[in-house]
Amino acid sequence: MAAAVRDLIDTSRDTLRAQFRHDVLTGLSQPRKAIPARWFYDHRGSELFEAITVLPEYYPTRTETGILMAHATRIGRMVGAQHHVVVEFGAGSATKTPLLLDAIWTAGYVPIDISGAFLHESCDALAARYPELPIHPVEADFTRPVALPADLNAFPRLGFFPGSTIGNMEPMVATDLLRSMRETLGGGSLLLIGFDRIKAEVELVAAYDDAQGVTAAFNLNLANRINAELDGSIPLDALAHKAVWNDERARIEMHIAATRDIAFDVCGQPFAMKRGETIHTENSHKYDPRSADTLLLAGGWEPLQGFGDADDKFMVILARAMGDEQTA
Ligand code: AVI
Repeated sequence: MAAAVRDLIDTSRDTLRAQFRHDVLTGLSQPRKAIPARWFYDHRGSELFEAITVLPEYYPTRTETGILMAHATRIGRMVGAQHHVVVEFGAGSATKTPLLLDAIWTAGYVPIDISGAFLHESCDALAARYPELPIHPVEADFTRPVALPADLNAFPRLGFFPGSTIGNMEPMVATDLLRSMRETLGGGSLLLIGFDRIKAEVELVAAYDDAQGVTAAFNLNLANRINAELDGSIPLDALAHKAVWNDERARIEMHIAATRDIAFDVCGQPFAMKRGETIHTENSHKYDPRSADTLLLAGGWEPLQGFGDADDKFMVILARAMGDEQTA
């Protein structure tokens, strides 16, 4: 490996570590401890998330895949006979992305992801399956507007944001993201986006607190990671996974709870937790068709058509970027 490339990788690793350190120390110093969910996804965390997606209790992945399969022809018809560039926010999964690529006329595929390694893995798999398709991976933070490859400028764009990842953001952040996607894709573009639906509390809690304890391991892995990477001394035997439904905010919250009074250090700084106190680690907002439409409209996207499953568990919405014209 060239020295310049190695330096670049080292620099981005150092930056990431500094951000992790900052988020953990700041989050643990707050009166209500909280750490952003993005830090779940180290190598082990990503493996555990993959395992979650096939759990019997975790319905979103298989339900969304079923919706895309069942409505592929209709989605293709609505997108139209024009060749589109598919821009996926996050590295594409081997199961969902081909369902869309097979349903429409594609001029190119542009996955945007902050993790280069993930991006290249998913692109290699898609390139083997679609040898003729121009694939242009972009390593970037998609929460900000991203410049798309200029040689695909002539084609209309279709954004793809599956998985109900939008639900992991507070509505204000989700709105900013939708606006930023609109800027990245341009006026008149289309967006196909997945939302998890509000449903019975027992079903929601089970999806985030499964019988095999995979989601618990995913959540508690964050404490492992803090101990390993930030010289932490959190007593892992005094932690428990907690998933609760917050009805007012229509979201599942994941927390790491202390099962007894504990004291520990992270990066040389002392922290303490009382028995029952928690670190809030994730929000997963759930929507109904109307609240999803309202969020899309606030983000500059006009909902065109919703696609669902027979049990109303999940929905995929096709939306069009609104123009800048003023209305009353
Ligand atoms: C990635 N995201 C959409 C998942 C969700 O359902 O909110 C993350 C997850 N957390 C626990 N289980 C799955």
